[in-house]
Amino acid sequence: MSLRVAIVGATGLVGKALLTVLEQRNFPMDHLILLAGDRSAGQVMSFNHNNYTVLPLAEFDWKKQVVDIAFFSAGNEVSMHYAPIARDSGCIVIDNSSAFRYDDDIPLIVPEVNGDELKSMSQRRGYRRSPSIIIANPNCSTIQLAMVLAPIHAAAIIKRVFVSTYQAVSGAGQMLVDALKNGEHYDASIHHNVIPQIDVLQNNGYSREEMKMLWESRKILNIPDLLLSATAVRVPVINAHSESVVIETEKPFSVTQAIQCLNNKPGLIVLEDHWVTPKEVSGKDDVFVSRVRQDLAFGEKGLSFWIVADNLRKGAALNAVQIAEIFIAKEFV
Ligand SMILES: NC(=O)c1ccc[n+]([C@@H]2O[C@H](COP(=O)([O-])OP(=O)(O)OC[C@H]3O[C@@H](n4cnc5c(N)ncnc54)[C@H](OP(=O)(O)O)[C@@H]3O)[C@@H](O)[C@H]2O)c1
Repeated sequence: MSLRVAIVGATGLVGKALLTVLEQRNFPMDHLILLAGDRSAGQVMSFNHNNYTVLPLAEFDWKKQVVDIAFFSAGNEVSMHYAPIARDSGCIVIDNSSAFRYDDDIPLIVPEVNGDELKSMSQRRGYRRSPSIIIANPNCSTIQLAMVLAPIHAAAIIKRVFVSTYQAVSGAGQMLVDALKNGEHYDASIHHNVIPQIDVLQNNGYSREEMKMLWESRKILNIPDLLLSATAVRVPVINAHSESVVIETEKPFSVTQAIQCLNNKPGLIVLEDHWVTPKEVSGKDDVFVSRVRQDLAFGEKGLSFWIVADNLRKGAALNAVQIAEIFIAKEFV
């Protein structure tokens, strides 16, 4: 297999995580193009012991250069403008921004949960090679939540979800990491503090990050009437997001049943006798579930748990690469 891969936003946190994940998974490609804005164009980055110069996205000619798979991680505006150009030039775009996640005809994929949608969709359209398509990678907080909700929903039918997030600064990009590490840049209020707003506030009083968790969970889990209420909070943690989750199920569901149903699911690690923190989970691929307990308010039809995952890996780069691997496995690219 000789794939040509482009990373848009290669110098950002997700871009760098993509390079690490592609290298670690020995992704089958023979050509790599790194793209970014004017600020970091010209930088030299290393991949598999080779050096690559970052090119300015604005000058890149998608029609002239053949790209099979393009990972986009440079924000909504960049994706809105350039992802359709890349797609129309014949490549598969896997987009980390939220620009296309809510479009009905754009798949929003967590491979372990609804990866089959992608396979059947590609077969339906009769693709053999280069399907020219945009696939959306979900929001980082939603991916780790959906990984846990999907098996429980299959076993006991989830009626309601209440989730409070404890989101690391890396979720907001390099600038906020620098702000926490060095007190530099635009936002020093994250020091010794927690901030109960991520993304802009909506008219209903919820932040857009909180609404993303509702909209995206419904789409990924294919539960259009799922009731989910989120509170998204930025905390002074460098990397990996944590979530405190309470669910109400239609059927009675015990802790033992929940643990059995989550155990041995690909990408999930269930811890029965201890819990994990973001510091331990940072750099790991799996989503970690601990503190599974019968919820005191909902009783036998309710569970509470603590979910932690690396937002740059499963929450972004790893999930995106897994999506690409579906296409490769099915020989659609
Ligand atoms: N961080 C996470 O955990 C996470 C998780 C899921 C999804 N995402 C999404 O992934 C995207 C990137 O996030 P990040 O955390 O990696 O941000 P980041 O660290 O701030 O990096 C942003 C990257 O985008 C590039 N960029 C910005 N404006 C550009 C332009 N006009 N043209 C070309 N490149 C441009 C930057 O290059 P320059 O330095 O040259 O500007 C940089 O490489 C965002 O859409 C974010 O919402 C992030």
